[in-house]
Amino acid sequence: MSLLPAASAKCEVSFTVNGHAKKVLAHPMERLLDVLRNDTIEGMAAHALMKLLQESFLECGGAQCGICTPGMILAAVHLLEKKPQPALTDIREGLAGNLCRCTGYMQIFEAVAKAARQRVAQ
Ligand code: FES
Repeated sequence: MSLLPAASAKCEVSFTVNGHAKKVLAHPMERLLDVLRNDTIEGMAAHALMKLLQESFLECGGAQCGICTPGMILAAVHLLEKKPQPALTDIREGLAGNLCRCTGYMQIFEAVAKAARQRVAQ
């Protein structure tokens, strides 16, 4: 009998991300990147900008394979919190560091700009 959890069982993992203590249930072999990508963004579900950004990403074709989408959305939330009406250069700088191999970035930039315009119009 092993005292180690089965590979398929989830374990509670505690860590600090962006200065906030977090506890998640994760598989022992799950990469931190996947935990952050799959669970952290869910922690933003109730954020006022999430629905607007998700809809604009879909409408503008800013999400294709979806690999980069959580990072892009989180960066966009941060950008729009700091700068509600960003110029294209602000959007480019705000999302810098998130790599997308699918969209060529313009659809993503347009999605963020569209969300910003819609937010101001509300
Ligand atoms: Fe595929 Fe960005 S949508 S990497």
